[in-house]
Amino acid sequence: MSAFVRVASLAELEEDTPKRVEVDGTPISLVRTEGEVFAINDICSHANVSLSEGEVEDCAIECWLHGSSFDLRTGKPSGLPATQPVPVYPVKIEGEGPDAAVLVSVTQES
Ligand code: FES
Repeated sequence: MSAFVRVASLAELEEDTPKRVEVDGTPISLVRTEGEVFAINDICSHANVSLSEGEVEDCAIECWLHGSSFDLRTGKPSGLPATQPVPVYPVKIEGEGPDAAVLVSVTQES
């Protein structure tokens, strides 16, 4: 069973500006870009820094510390120094317009 939890409204997410939220103690960077919303673990796989403080470009989030970029769809790094992916989580949008709810599940199983 996957439990989706409401983490924000669509209006709270600015395009290409990550927002850090927590679900069951898991830090998540929420990113609205290219017409979709993505949820990626907020901690870089290379060191313990917050990805939500990085920049978003081409559906990837760049770690501000050493510059590895993680694909928001898969969590895979596109280059060194990070070699391990960062977990990504399914996102659901419920409702219409700016009041639509953004939900994330960190339990993974479907
Ligand atoms: S801490 Fe993120 S790339 Fe080094």
